[in-house]
Amino acid sequence: MAVTLGDIYKKAVEIGMKNDPRTKEDLAAYMKEKKEKLKKMNEAQKKLHADWGWNPYDDTRVIYGDLKRQVEVVYVGIDVETQELALISALNGKREREGKKPIDLALAHHPESHALEGLAGVMEDIQVATMKEAGIPPNLTSGSLKDRIGDVTKSVHSDNLHRAKSAAQLLDIPFFCAHTIADNVAYQVVSKIVQKLKPRKVKDVVEALGKIPHFKKAAEEYSEPISVQTGSLDSWAGKVFVEGYTGGTDGSAVILKYLSRNAQVGTTIAMHKSKAHRDEANKHHLNSIITNHMASDALGMQPLVDWLRSKKIEVVIGCGMIDAKMP
Ligand SMILES: [Fe+2]
Ligand SMILES: [Fe+2]
Repeated sequence: MAVTLGDIYKKAVEIGMKNDPRTKEDLAAYMKEKKEKLKKMNEAQKKLHADWGWNPYDDTRVIYGDLKRQVEVVYVGIDVETQELALISALNGKREREGKKPIDLALAHHPESHALEGLAGVMEDIQVATMKEAGIPPNLTSGSLKDRIGDVTKSVHSDNLHRAKSAAQLLDIPFFCAHTIADNVAYQVVSKIVQKLKPRKVKDVVEALGKIPHFKKAAEEYSEPISVQTGSLDSWAGKVFVEGYTGGTDGSAVILKYLSRNAQVGTTIAMHKSKAHRDEANKHHLNSIITNHMASDALGMQPLVDWLRSKKIEVVIGCGMIDAKMP
């Protein structure tokens, strides 16, 4: 049966909800709150945020394209911006000469356009949930996030937000960004592996993570697929916690103090770490393991890619995507 853009969008949200760090009750309460907010909006805002009614991820959105459009060939990239859309257009010329079907959907991980505008919207609720796992009370996480969420919102506000959307419109290439739905997957996969470990040193954690197929494959392309950015391979691991995988983007650096002191975490695992976070981690002798950003995001995108293939959709691997078996 033909698969439409709407089917792919629905499947992506389903994957995100299945892997969400919140309890079913917390997720339902969040969605109820959003629906109530939606009801009180004016008509223009209601139209902009119509997806709040069923999709709890503000950074996962169809940027361009009718939901009823049929999809047969998908280009998947961790980033899809104007240059990738121009590349798809050039590739389609080449595919036509080769007698192949054109790429009829650009699928990105990192959000663009109104999905990027929604990035701050996924931060608080999800980070409250992941930190609760470590034993940090919601008020501490939420309070420490306020400034950071404000910064993310303001920095996005001044951006040329719809640049890639306008390229997709002009080239008539449907475009979909699947952000937190994939980060939830990567968070669950890595958390489950970590929960089974009884590491003595940081190197024991790095060794276990190195067995994940996406990180193994990253080692063929990157000289250091897993790096230790504070502490060292020989540092005592202590309690290990996946801190920076889902919840939009980095939270506040101060949370690292709570992780160290309140939750007695010794080692965190993230996909990237800012200087402010590294400085704060160093203050508390907290070890920071950073898994390759592209490989970690690719791990999260993999279930959606596998599902597309199960529906006989051709997948063209592009920009940063690492295609490997799910662990
Ligand atoms: Fe991500
Ligand atoms: Fe990312």
